[in-house]
Amino acid sequence: MTNDLAQLGRPVVFFFNETDSTNTAAKRLILEGKISEDAVITCARQTNGRGRRGRSWLDDGGNSLCVTLVKKLGIAEHLERLPLAVALGVYDALSSFSTNLGIKWPNDILCGGKKLSGILVELFDSYALIGVGVNVLNVDFPDEIKSIATSLRILGANAPSKDDVLIKLVECVFSSVKAISSDEAFSAALVRYKAVSLTIHKHVCVFGAAGTATGFVKDFDDVGRIILVDDNGYESIIDVGDVSLREVE
Ligand code: BTN
Repeated sequence: MTNDLAQLGRPVVFFFNETDSTNTAAKRLILEGKISEDAVITCARQTNGRGRRGRSWLDDGGNSLCVTLVKKLGIAEHLERLPLAVALGVYDALSSFSTNLGIKWPNDILCGGKKLSGILVELFDSYALIGVGVNVLNVDFPDEIKSIATSLRILGANAPSKDDVLIKLVECVFSSVKAISSDEAFSAALVRYKAVSLTIHKHVCVFGAAGTATGFVKDFDDVGRIILVDDNGYESIIDVGDVSLREVE
């Protein structure tokens, strides 16, 4: 990595051969005053990748693309719209390399029920840190995630390099994130998100901040939160958490 990145021009790109976590590296760069605008942090090998809800992201042998897109925040951004816009940007980017992808709420990209990409969005100082992990070159996974993970190579995509995927991601995610400041653009994004959602109109188990709930996902609200109808017919809105798509009996 890479001369190809020069074609990105701006934003500024920081490349490390090895780092613990590109999100953590982004925080260090911000604290050191090295970032003052939109930026991209990436690496050949990530050793301590962090996931949502305290999970980790395994970069097995440097086969995943690990990148953090740093977005300078405006004063009145609709930050609650960010996870959905990011998910759609990543979905768009990866759809250039593989078909039949979908988004599991809030922002996992899956194919055939297996995870291709995960996203960790954090707010830090006046920046959004959009951490994206994509399994690109993996031909196999460790036993503990073998049944739940896939990669672009396994999916038979035209063997894109990590650089190819990075360039597409940067283009699509920064472009998609622009939608959060426009009501009209965000409404259109929400319609597209629903169309590729693997969660809408399914019986799911939701692991939210307030505990676990099971029910039917009736819809997403105007910022992409789940509207869940539980088994007693009560409706609730869930804004953070994870879902399990296993059919609930
Ligand atoms: C998840 O699925 O729980 C989110 C995984 C996010 C992983 C990416 S890899 C690049 C960036 N740096 C990190 O430490 N995490 C994100």
